[in-house]
Amino acid sequence: MSKCILNEDGKYLTIIKDGMQTRFHAIWLRDNAWDAETRSPDNGQRLVTLQDIPQDTRIVSVHLNVAILNVTYSPENKAVDYDIDWLMKNAYDRPDAVQTSWLSSHVETWDSNMMSRIPVADFELVSSQPTQLKNWLAQIARFGFGKLTNGPVEELALNRVVGLFGYVRETNYGRHFDVRTEVNPTNLAYTGLGLQAHTDNPYRDPVPTIQVLYCLESSAAGGENMVVDGFRAAERLRAENEDWFNTLTRHCAQFEYAGSDDVKLQSRRPMIELSPDGELICVRFNNRSTAAITDVPFDEMETYYAAYRRFGEIIDDPAMEVTFRLEPGDSFLVDNRRVLHARKGYSGSGKRWLQGCYADMDSLYSKLAVLETKLPEVAE
Ligand code: FE2
Repeated sequence: MSKCILNEDGKYLTIIKDGMQTRFHAIWLRDNAWDAETRSPDNGQRLVTLQDIPQDTRIVSVHLNVAILNVTYSPENKAVDYDIDWLMKNAYDRPDAVQTSWLSSHVETWDSNMMSRIPVADFELVSSQPTQLKNWLAQIARFGFGKLTNGPVEELALNRVVGLFGYVRETNYGRHFDVRTEVNPTNLAYTGLGLQAHTDNPYRDPVPTIQVLYCLESSAAGGENMVVDGFRAAERLRAENEDWFNTLTRHCAQFEYAGSDDVKLQSRRPMIELSPDGELICVRFNNRSTAAITDVPFDEMETYYAAYRRFGEIIDDPAMEVTFRLEPGDSFLVDNRRVLHARKGYSGSGKRWLQGCYADMDSLYSKLAVLETKLPEVAE
Protein backbone atom coordinates (compact mmCIF):
# COMPACT_ATOMS: atom_id res chain seq x y z
CA MET A 1 0.00 0.00 0.00
CA SER A 2 1.45 3.33 -1.03
CA LYS A 3 0.91 6.76 0.47
CA CYS A 4 1.76 10.22 -0.78
CA ILE A 5 2.44 13.31 1.33
CA LEU A 6 2.69 16.82 -0.01
CA ASN A 7 5.13 19.06 1.78
CA GLU A 8 3.75 22.39 3.02
CA ASP A 9 4.87 24.74 0.27
CA GLY A 10 4.37 22.24 -2.58
CA LYS A 11 8.04 22.18 -3.61
CA TYR A 12 8.16 18.41 -3.36
CA LEU A 13 6.12 15.36 -2.46
CA THR A 14 7.02 12.15 -0.67
CA ILE A 15 5.86 8.68 -1.71
CA ILE A 16 5.83 6.11 1.06
CA LYS A 17 5.92 2.61 -0.39
CA ASP A 18 6.97 -0.62 1.31
CA GLY A 19 8.21 1.43 4.28
CA MET A 20 10.53 3.52 2.06
CA GLN A 21 10.19 7.28 1.70
CA THR A 22 11.08 8.71 -1.72
CA ARG A 23 10.92 12.42 -2.49
CA PHE A 24 10.30 14.04 -5.88
CA HIS A 25 10.60 17.75 -6.60
CA ALA A 26 7.69 19.62 -8.21
CA ILE A 27 9.89 20.90 -11.05
CA TRP A 28 11.27 17.41 -11.75
CA LEU A 29 7.80 15.87 -11.80
CA ARG A 30 6.38 18.61 -14.02
CA ASP A 31 9.32 18.28 -16.44
CA ASN A 32 8.74 14.52 -16.58
CA ALA A 33 5.00 14.69 -17.18
CA TRP A 34 3.72 12.24 -19.79
CA ASP A 35 0.57 14.07 -20.83
CA ALA A 36 -0.02 14.66 -24.55
CA GLU A 37 0.86 18.38 -24.31
CA THR A 38 4.22 17.67 -22.72
CA ARG A 39 5.26 14.49 -24.58
CA SER A 40 4.37 13.36 -28.06
CA PRO A 41 2.02 10.37 -27.78
CA ASP A 42 3.59 9.08 -31.02
CA ASN A 43 7.31 9.08 -30.32
CA GLY A 44 7.59 10.04 -26.64
CA GLN A 45 9.68 13.13 -27.41
CA ARG A 46 9.26 16.15 -25.16
CA LEU A 47 7.25 18.93 -26.80
CA VAL A 48 8.10 21.72 -24.34
CA THR A 49 11.31 23.34 -23.18
CA LEU A 50 12.03 23.94 -19.53
CA GLN A 51 11.36 27.64 -20.19
CA ASP A 52 7.74 26.72 -21.01
CA ILE A 53 7.33 25.47 -17.44
CA PRO A 54 6.88 28.27 -14.87
CA GLN A 55 9.90 28.73 -12.62
CA ASP A 56 7.61 28.96 -9.57
CA THR A 57 5.90 25.64 -10.29
CA ARG A 58 4.40 24.16 -7.12
CA ILE A 59 2.29 21.11 -6.35
CA VAL A 60 -1.11 22.16 -5.05
CA SER A 61 -2.71 18.73 -4.61
CA VAL A 62 -1.99 15.02 -4.92
CA HIS A 63 -4.32 12.04 -5.18
CA LEU A 64 -3.10 8.49 -5.10
CA ASN A 65 -5.34 5.89 -6.69
CA VAL A 66 -3.64 2.48 -6.35
CA ALA A 67 -0.90 2.66 -8.99
CA ILE A 68 -1.65 6.14 -10.38
CA LEU A 69 -0.57 9.38 -8.74
CA ASN A 70 -2.49 12.46 -9.85
CA VAL A 71 -0.61 15.72 -9.31
CA THR A 72 -1.97 19.25 -9.84
CA TYR A 73 0.43 22.13 -10.39
CA SER A 74 0.19 25.88 -9.95
CA PRO A 75 0.36 28.38 -11.51
CA GLU A 76 -0.59 26.34 -14.61
CA ASN A 77 -3.53 24.70 -12.83
CA LYS A 78 -2.54 21.54 -14.68
CA ALA A 79 -3.20 17.96 -13.52
CA VAL A 80 -0.95 15.11 -14.57
CA ASP A 81 -1.15 11.35 -13.91
CA TYR A 82 2.00 9.37 -13.06
CA ASP A 83 2.51 5.65 -12.94
CA ILE A 84 3.91 4.86 -9.48
CA ASP A 85 6.08 2.06 -10.84
CA TRP A 86 7.62 4.45 -13.37
CA LEU A 87 8.33 6.95 -10.60
CA MET A 88 9.99 4.36 -8.37
CA LYS A 89 12.09 3.08 -11.28
CA ASN A 90 13.30 6.62 -11.92
CA ALA A 91 13.69 7.70 -8.30
CA TYR A 92 16.73 9.86 -7.56
CA ASP A 93 16.28 10.39 -3.80
CA ARG A 94 19.23 8.45 -2.46
CA PRO A 95 22.29 9.33 -0.42
CA ASP A 96 25.08 10.96 -2.40
CA ALA A 97 27.51 8.05 -2.53
CA VAL A 98 29.86 9.20 -5.26
CA GLN A 99 32.73 6.80 -5.48
CA THR A 100 35.60 7.08 -7.91
CA SER A 101 35.74 4.59 -10.79
CA TRP A 102 32.39 2.95 -10.16
CA LEU A 103 30.89 0.67 -12.77
CA SER A 104 27.30 -0.11 -13.64
CA SER A 105 25.93 -3.29 -12.13
CA HIS A 106 25.52 -4.49 -15.74
CA VAL A 107 29.29 -4.52 -16.23
CA GLU A 108 31.61 -7.23 -14.93
CA THR A 109 35.38 -6.94 -15.17
CA TRP A 110 37.59 -9.95 -15.84
CA ASP A 111 41.12 -11.26 -16.20
CA SER A 112 42.63 -14.44 -17.64
CA ASN A 113 40.09 -16.51 -15.69
CA MET A 114 37.70 -15.47 -18.42
CA MET A 115 39.46 -17.94 -20.75
CA SER A 116 37.07 -20.68 -19.73
CA ARG A 117 33.95 -18.62 -20.45
CA ILE A 118 34.65 -16.52 -23.52
CA PRO A 119 31.36 -15.05 -24.77
CA VAL A 120 30.94 -17.07 -27.95
CA ALA A 121 28.02 -17.82 -30.23
CA ASP A 122 27.36 -19.52 -33.54
CA PHE A 123 27.04 -17.18 -36.51
CA GLU A 124 24.02 -18.93 -38.01
CA LEU A 125 22.23 -19.21 -34.68
CA VAL A 126 22.56 -15.52 -33.78
CA SER A 127 21.55 -14.66 -37.37
CA SER A 128 18.37 -16.71 -37.23
CA GLN A 129 17.30 -16.81 -33.60
CA PRO A 130 16.57 -13.52 -31.79
CA THR A 131 16.97 -15.13 -28.36
CA GLN A 132 20.48 -16.31 -29.26
CA LEU A 133 21.31 -12.83 -30.54
CA LYS A 134 19.96 -11.23 -27.37
CA ASN A 135 22.06 -13.51 -25.19
CA TRP A 136 25.21 -12.83 -27.21
CA LEU A 137 24.70 -9.04 -27.19
CA ALA A 138 24.00 -9.13 -23.45
CA GLN A 139 27.34 -10.81 -22.88
CA ILE A 140 29.12 -8.18 -24.99
CA ALA A 141 27.44 -5.44 -22.96
CA ARG A 142 28.60 -7.15 -19.75
CA PHE A 143 32.11 -8.25 -20.70
CA GLY A 144 33.04 -5.89 -23.54
CA PHE A 145 33.85 -8.52 -26.14
CA GLY A 146 32.37 -11.50 -27.92
CA LYS A 147 33.30 -14.09 -30.49
CA LEU A 148 31.31 -15.64 -33.34
CA THR A 149 32.15 -18.96 -34.94
CA ASN A 150 31.20 -20.84 -38.12
CA GLY A 151 30.45 -17.79 -40.25
CA PRO A 152 30.80 -17.77 -44.02
CA VAL A 153 34.33 -17.63 -45.41
CA GLU A 154 33.68 -14.85 -47.85
CA GLU A 155 34.84 -11.30 -48.30
CA LEU A 156 32.86 -8.64 -46.40
CA ALA A 157 31.08 -11.22 -44.25
CA LEU A 158 31.99 -8.84 -41.42
CA ASN A 159 29.21 -6.56 -42.67
CA ARG A 160 26.77 -9.30 -41.71
CA VAL A 161 28.21 -9.33 -38.19
CA VAL A 162 27.67 -5.57 -37.84
CA GLY A 163 24.25 -5.91 -39.47
CA LEU A 164 23.15 -8.08 -36.54
CA PHE A 165 22.91 -4.95 -34.39
CA GLY A 166 23.96 -1.77 -36.17
CA TYR A 167 25.95 0.06 -38.79
CA VAL A 168 29.52 0.28 -40.01
CA ARG A 169 31.35 3.47 -39.11
CA GLU A 170 33.32 4.54 -42.16
CA THR A 171 36.71 6.16 -41.58
CA ASN A 172 39.73 7.18 -43.63
CA TYR A 173 40.60 3.46 -43.65
CA GLY A 174 37.38 2.88 -45.59
CA ARG A 175 34.22 0.97 -44.67
CA HIS A 176 36.50 -1.93 -43.87
CA PHE A 177 40.22 -2.66 -43.84
CA ASP A 178 42.28 -5.74 -44.60
CA VAL A 179 44.88 -6.92 -42.10
CA ARG A 180 47.51 -9.13 -43.73
CA THR A 181 51.21 -9.22 -44.37
CA GLU A 182 52.47 -6.54 -46.69
CA VAL A 183 55.96 -6.07 -48.05
CA ASN A 184 56.09 -2.34 -47.33
CA PRO A 185 53.86 -1.82 -44.35
CA THR A 186 52.72 1.70 -43.58
CA ASN A 187 51.16 0.55 -40.36
CA LEU A 188 52.56 -2.01 -37.91
CA ALA A 189 49.24 -3.88 -37.91
CA TYR A 190 50.14 -5.21 -41.36
CA THR A 191 53.45 -6.87 -40.45
CA GLY A 192 54.16 -10.21 -38.80
CA LEU A 193 55.20 -8.64 -35.50
CA GLY A 194 53.20 -9.08 -32.36
CA LEU A 195 51.46 -5.97 -31.10
CA GLN A 196 51.07 -4.67 -27.58
CA ALA A 197 47.46 -4.73 -26.44
CA HIS A 198 45.82 -1.46 -27.36
CA THR A 199 42.56 0.29 -28.02
CA ASP A 200 42.07 1.32 -31.62
CA ASN A 201 42.13 4.82 -33.00
CA PRO A 202 42.46 6.87 -29.79
CA TYR A 203 43.36 9.75 -32.13
CA ARG A 204 39.70 9.98 -33.15
CA ASP A 205 37.18 11.94 -31.13
CA PRO A 206 34.90 10.21 -30.54
CA VAL A 207 36.74 6.91 -30.81
CA PRO A 208 35.00 4.12 -32.70
CA THR A 209 33.29 2.26 -29.88
CA ILE A 210 33.31 -1.15 -31.58
CA GLN A 211 35.93 -2.92 -33.64
CA VAL A 212 35.07 -6.11 -35.54
CA LEU A 213 37.77 -8.44 -36.86
CA TYR A 214 36.74 -11.25 -39.19
CA CYS A 215 39.10 -14.08 -40.17
CA LEU A 216 39.16 -15.23 -43.79
CA GLU A 217 42.48 -17.03 -43.91
CA SER A 218 44.70 -18.39 -41.15
CA SER A 219 47.36 -20.87 -42.21
CA ALA A 220 50.32 -19.21 -40.44
CA ALA A 221 51.36 -20.56 -37.07
CA GLY A 222 50.83 -18.16 -34.19
CA GLY A 223 48.97 -14.90 -34.64
CA GLU A 224 46.48 -15.66 -31.88
CA ASN A 225 44.20 -12.84 -30.88
CA MET A 226 44.29 -11.59 -27.36
CA VAL A 227 42.04 -9.26 -25.37
CA VAL A 228 42.55 -7.47 -22.05
CA ASP A 229 39.89 -5.77 -19.94
CA GLY A 230 41.00 -2.15 -19.68
CA PHE A 231 38.51 -1.53 -16.88
CA ARG A 232 40.06 -4.33 -14.82
CA ALA A 233 43.52 -2.90 -15.56
CA ALA A 234 42.33 0.52 -14.35
CA GLU A 235 40.86 -1.05 -11.21
CA ARG A 236 44.17 -2.80 -10.53
CA LEU A 237 46.12 0.41 -10.99
CA ARG A 238 43.80 2.20 -8.58
CA ALA A 239 44.09 -0.56 -6.00
CA GLU A 240 47.90 -0.47 -6.25
CA ASN A 241 48.39 3.28 -6.26
CA GLU A 242 45.52 5.74 -6.16
CA ASP A 243 47.74 8.72 -7.02
CA TRP A 244 48.85 7.01 -10.19
CA PHE A 245 45.28 6.18 -11.13
CA ASN A 246 44.22 9.76 -10.44
CA THR A 247 46.98 11.28 -12.54
CA LEU A 248 45.91 9.27 -15.60
CA THR A 249 42.29 10.35 -15.10
CA ARG A 250 43.01 14.02 -14.36
CA HIS A 251 45.28 14.87 -17.28
CA CYS A 252 44.78 14.53 -20.99
CA ALA A 253 47.16 12.50 -23.09
CA GLN A 254 47.47 13.32 -26.75
CA PHE A 255 47.12 10.93 -29.65
CA GLU A 256 47.94 11.37 -33.29
CA TYR A 257 47.93 9.47 -36.56
CA ALA A 258 49.45 10.98 -39.67
CA GLY A 259 50.23 7.79 -41.54
CA SER A 260 49.41 9.06 -44.99
CA ASP A 261 49.63 12.39 -46.81
CA ASP A 262 46.01 13.38 -46.47
CA VAL A 263 45.36 12.41 -42.84
CA LYS A 264 46.35 14.12 -39.61
CA LEU A 265 44.08 12.90 -36.85
CA GLN A 266 44.64 14.31 -33.37
CA SER A 267 42.87 14.07 -30.04
CA ARG A 268 43.36 15.22 -26.47
CA ARG A 269 41.72 12.91 -23.96
CA PRO A 270 42.77 11.05 -20.78
CA MET A 271 44.08 7.48 -20.86
CA ILE A 272 41.53 6.61 -18.18
CA GLU A 273 38.33 8.63 -18.47
CA LEU A 274 35.73 9.07 -15.75
CA SER A 275 32.32 10.67 -16.02
CA PRO A 276 31.76 13.79 -13.88
CA ASP A 277 30.34 11.55 -11.14
CA GLY A 278 33.25 9.13 -11.23
CA GLU A 279 32.02 6.31 -13.46
CA LEU A 280 34.80 4.56 -15.34
CA ILE A 281 33.78 5.12 -18.95
CA CYS A 282 36.75 4.82 -21.29
CA VAL A 283 40.32 3.59 -21.53
CA ARG A 284 42.62 4.79 -24.30
CA PHE A 285 45.93 3.01 -24.60
CA ASN A 286 48.00 2.75 -27.74
CA ASN A 287 51.77 3.09 -27.68
CA ARG A 288 51.93 3.54 -31.46
CA SER A 289 49.76 6.62 -31.60
CA THR A 290 50.49 8.39 -28.32
CA ALA A 291 51.84 11.83 -29.22
CA ALA A 292 53.94 14.15 -27.04
CA ILE A 293 52.02 14.58 -23.79
CA THR A 294 52.03 18.29 -23.01
CA ASP A 295 49.04 18.73 -20.72
CA VAL A 296 50.61 17.39 -17.53
CA PRO A 297 52.15 20.03 -15.25
CA PHE A 298 55.97 19.83 -14.90
CA ASP A 299 55.72 18.85 -11.24
CA GLU A 300 53.46 15.90 -12.05
CA MET A 301 55.13 14.58 -15.21
CA GLU A 302 57.34 12.05 -13.40
CA THR A 303 54.32 10.69 -11.52
CA TYR A 304 52.39 10.61 -14.78
CA TYR A 305 55.09 8.58 -16.48
CA ALA A 306 55.33 6.19 -13.52
CA ALA A 307 51.56 5.68 -13.76
CA TYR A 308 51.64 5.27 -17.54
CA ARG A 309 54.45 2.69 -17.23
CA ARG A 310 52.63 0.72 -14.52
CA PHE A 311 49.35 0.81 -16.43
CA GLY A 312 51.19 -0.71 -19.42
CA GLU A 313 52.80 -3.36 -17.20
CA ILE A 314 49.39 -4.36 -15.85
CA ILE A 315 48.02 -4.54 -19.39
CA ASP A 316 51.00 -6.72 -20.44
CA ASP A 317 50.61 -9.04 -17.44
CA PRO A 318 49.70 -12.53 -18.76
CA ALA A 319 47.32 -12.84 -15.80
CA MET A 320 45.16 -10.24 -17.54
CA GLU A 321 44.96 -11.75 -21.01
CA VAL A 322 42.41 -13.93 -22.72
CA THR A 323 43.72 -15.57 -25.88
CA PHE A 324 41.92 -17.34 -28.68
CA ARG A 325 42.57 -18.35 -32.22
CA LEU A 326 40.38 -17.29 -35.10
CA GLU A 327 39.77 -19.85 -37.82
CA PRO A 328 38.39 -18.82 -41.20
CA GLY A 329 34.75 -17.81 -40.66
CA ASP A 330 35.35 -16.81 -37.03
CA SER A 331 35.16 -13.22 -35.86
CA PHE A 332 35.19 -11.20 -32.69
CA LEU A 333 34.24 -7.74 -31.63
CA VAL A 334 35.42 -5.55 -28.79
CA ASP A 335 33.97 -2.56 -26.98
CA ASN A 336 36.84 -0.31 -28.00
CA ARG A 337 36.24 2.04 -25.07
CA ARG A 338 37.08 -0.73 -22.70
CA VAL A 339 38.70 -3.87 -24.07
CA LEU A 340 42.20 -3.76 -25.50
CA HIS A 341 43.14 -6.17 -28.25
CA ALA A 342 46.42 -7.52 -29.54
CA ARG A 343 47.88 -10.10 -31.81
CA LYS A 344 50.66 -12.48 -30.95
CA GLY A 345 53.52 -12.66 -33.41
CA TYR A 346 53.18 -15.26 -36.15
CA SER A 347 55.62 -17.09 -38.34
CA GLY A 348 56.34 -16.19 -41.93
CA SER A 349 55.10 -19.29 -43.64
CA GLY A 350 51.47 -19.43 -44.53
CA LYS A 351 49.00 -16.58 -44.65
CA ARG A 352 46.75 -14.70 -42.33
CA TRP A 353 44.00 -12.46 -43.55
CA LEU A 354 41.51 -10.62 -41.41
CA GLN A 355 39.01 -8.00 -42.41
CA GLY A 356 38.15 -5.35 -39.86
CA CYS A 357 35.70 -2.52 -39.48
CA TYR A 358 34.31 -0.15 -36.90
CA ALA A 359 30.80 0.24 -35.55
CA ASP A 360 29.27 1.68 -32.39
CA MET A 361 28.02 0.45 -29.06
CA ASP A 362 24.96 2.73 -28.98
CA SER A 363 23.27 0.69 -31.70
CA LEU A 364 24.29 -2.55 -29.98
CA TYR A 365 22.71 -1.35 -26.71
CA SER A 366 19.64 -0.26 -28.66
CA LYS A 367 19.24 -3.66 -30.33
CA LEU A 368 19.74 -5.39 -26.99
CA ALA A 369 17.15 -3.17 -25.26
CA VAL A 370 14.60 -3.85 -27.99
CA LEU A 371 15.23 -7.61 -27.85
CA GLU A 372 14.97 -7.58 -24.05
CA THR A 373 11.58 -5.84 -24.32
CA LYS A 374 10.32 -8.22 -26.97
CA LEU A 375 11.82 -11.36 -25.46
CA PRO A 376 11.64 -11.01 -21.69
CA GLU A 377 13.32 -13.68 -19.61
CA VAL A 378 11.01 -16.55 -18.80
CA ALA A 379 11.03 -17.15 -15.05
CA GLU A 380 12.15 -20.67 -14.24
FE1 FE2 B 1 44.10 -2.67 -33.38
